Amino acid sequence: MNTVTLIDNRTGKKYDFDILSSTLGPDVIDVRKLYTSIGMFTYDPGFTSTASCSSTITYIDGDKGELRYRGYDITDLATKKSYLDVCYLLLNEKLPTKTQLTAFDNELRKRSFIHEGLKGLFNAFPDRAHPMAMMSSAVSALSTFYYEHLNVANKEEALVMAHRIIAKIPTLAAFTYRRSLGIPYIYPDIERSFTENFLYMMRAYPGENLEIRDVEIRALDTIFTLHADHEQNASTSTVRSVASTGAHPYAAISAGINALWGRAHGGANESVIAQLEIIADVKNVDAFIARAKDSNDEFRLMGFGHRVYKNFDPRAIILKKLLDSLKDELGIDDNLLKVARRIEEIALNDPYFIERKLYPNIDFYTGLILTALKIPKSMFTIIFVIGRSVGWITQWIELQNDTEMKITRPRQRYIGEKNKIL
Ligand code: CMC
Repeated sequence: MNTVTLIDNRTGKKYDFDILSSTLGPDVIDVRKLYTSIGMFTYDPGFTSTASCSSTITYIDGDKGELRYRGYDITDLATKKSYLDVCYLLLNEKLPTKTQLTAFDNELRKRSFIHEGLKGLFNAFPDRAHPMAMMSSAVSALSTFYYEHLNVANKEEALVMAHRIIAKIPTLAAFTYRRSLGIPYIYPDIERSFTENFLYMMRAYPGENLEIRDVEIRALDTIFTLHADHEQNASTSTVRSVASTGAHPYAAISAGINALWGRAHGGANESVIAQLEIIADVKNVDAFIARAKDSNDEFRLMGFGHRVYKNFDPRAIILKKLLDSLKDELGIDDNLLKVARRIEEIALNDPYFIERKLYPNIDFYTGLILTALKIPKSMFTIIFVIGRSVGWITQWIELQNDTEMKITRPRQRYIGEKNKIL
């Protein structure tokens, strides 16, 4: 076993720590015995240098702009496979055969219905409630219907739990939208597959046999694929943290949805379009870029920067190509597109952005495509939720089978008052 040696300058004492190898990416220093051997903690706010688990699901090389699910490159998956292929891959560690894919698709169609009682929950929300708040509540409420008989050690049961949440989330998502408008809920159509069904439930009038264009299904399916998993990001770490206490998987996913809502994470897609609408014209772009660069101004260019990607976000490259190829067919808002392109052009050539390695991320382009799909801004982060649900539940399954799993419980560096007397 290779080791690294830490020398405490105060005492001259040396301590060896094992180096655990990875199949791709940086090896890790095993510091689990650090506190018991040295009596000190590591200090890493935001976990910029800390691996919280071992995983076989997703690999990211942020410097190279590389993203892989179960070893497959994201560009290959997004251009050659469907979202359901990707869901199957994440859950089963291999791509499905045609027969397996059909069986998986059929199972999801049948599991897409929700308990009638849940409609009462939606009806209880005030008008104009944000879809993300309704969504996290509804997913948490799902645990009340599927609480019994959960034996997580049983692989089949864990997969049923997974299929159920992946299948029901689009229905819950469409219900949040219809509730926010006060229009009748549309039940899933068993004749339609996953992505088409979601657009149908969003748009149809009761009883209407609405046709959804193939180009729209393909575009949204790709967006779901690009969001399917992203290793230990803020929402996934939240899911793992909550699940580590033994909480119900849907309660953990509900917590993940809340973590995703913030602007620094999944909420950025809603903020990007809001920002493009405020900038409104290419002639205003320079002023907003100047604000983004001003350290005294809290303004940030939404859809730019990423904690891990320091070269480019491969998901953004795929979406940019998709946007260019489907621009006319989808009817992308030309003015917003012009503003977005100008921002991109200036930022990619500006030393402020170059030095800080700030590139457009996935959220910079999704909003433009989603707007063309007639999905309202308030539903953008919900689209992220639909795509990511498979990632969260796959990470939950991995956690249940991880023999090194422990309740998440970070330590702290205390810098408060000492020994105050009343
Ligand atoms: N606009 C202007 N300046 C920025 C931006 C931005 N969007 N992002 C980072 N910076 C600057 C920041 O001010 C700092 O400058 P300095 O070194 O002078 O203090 C430097 O770049 C490093 O920023 P950081 O906040 O320390 O970086 P981080 O890794 O902690 O944050 C981030 C990553 C994504 C939260 C951040 O880049 C950000 O807020 N971006 C805008 C929100 C956004 O688009 N989020 C979506 C992320 S992709 C979807 C997902 O996976 O969630």
